[in-house]
Amino acid sequence: TTSPVTVTVTGAAGQIGYALLFRIGAGQLLGPDTPVRLRLLEIPQAVQAAEGVAMELDDCAFPLLDGVDVSDDPRTAFDGANVALLVGARPRGKGMERADLLEANGGIFGPQGRAINDVAADDVRVLVVGNPANTNALIAASSAPDVPRSRFTAMTRLDHNRALSQVARRAGVPVAQVRRLSIWGNHSASQYPDLFHAQVGDRPGSDLAADRGWLTDDFIPTVAKRGAAIIEARGASSQASAANAAIDHVRDWYAGTPEGDWTSAGIWSTGEYGVPEGLISSFPVTSDGRDWSVVEGLEIDPFSRERIDASVAELLEEREAVRALGLV
Ligand code: NAI
Repeated sequence: TTSPVTVTVTGAAGQIGYALLFRIGAGQLLGPDTPVRLRLLEIPQAVQAAEGVAMELDDCAFPLLDGVDVSDDPRTAFDGANVALLVGARPRGKGMERADLLEANGGIFGPQGRAINDVAADDVRVLVVGNPANTNALIAASSAPDVPRSRFTAMTRLDHNRALSQVARRAGVPVAQVRRLSIWGNHSASQYPDLFHAQVGDRPGSDLAADRGWLTDDFIPTVAKRGAAIIEARGASSQASAANAAIDHVRDWYAGTPEGDWTSAGIWSTGEYGVPEGLISSFPVTSDGRDWSVVEGLEIDPFSRERIDASVAELLEEREAVRALGLV
């Protein structure tokens, strides 16, 4: 057994928080040998609800859970954080313009980034789940000049997992036999799920992609619009699957991705594949247990290029908007 890892979760009284915290308590984030200390951050109005969640965590008597603290102060909640899961965000209200949404989230992710900069552990790793995740991660990273940019990531693992399931079903293979899928760009409807480098059972993904009707009219929009389809079906947004994806992301970051496979994550671009430097964009990535690296040497054909560029253009627009607001 190692010493406890401090995991800070924001938006802890929310829906994803409720699906996430008990799995963390059960040891699914960092494995069965690593005790976890949880710090929950909420807004003042939701602190009481978060305390109720903390009571339930107590009542699970998780052997690996070394304590739970609740706070409404980022500087308390991120103190000593090794892992920071930024789930709480400002949702888009009725009639809210994009600039208003970005500004409201700037008011959350700016101060949280500064607190992470000042009080988190030196090895802190950050996953932003709250939407717009890529740009919120950019704001947080920009507010934390002393933390390497590469420690700030945005979640596209849910999109990745959605794509895995769609492909497995289409090909009639178990999901474990689908490898090397890639999500590119923004965690939004403009994202590009890329099948061309995948291995699907004993077939190359390009085999499946050869059915362009299915690829463009079914696969890509089904993955990209899955969030809306879940809301339509359940009357609530993806929660357990989002929590599951957050766990997958952090677990792979620490444990490393399996040999011969990769996953997808929004990471700080250093210009790979023509994605402008300093955007938090989704890429095919591997982890060595410490750092994410973009998978190198993939050939991008014009079909993919066009779609990657479109999603990256959206990220650039979001960056322009938050720059105009002085948030990055
Ligand atoms: P929710 O509304 O149930 O919970 C959000 C919680 O965050 C609330 O309890 C709220 O009080 C809290 N919060 C708001 N501002 C905060 C702040 N400044 N500090 C700490 N906590 C704060 O929402 P839910 O369903 O849990 O979703 C959370 C976020 O995750 C949303 O932004 C949603 O769009 C996003 N999301 C992202 C996905 C992805 O794939 N990246 C997938 C699904 C959801």
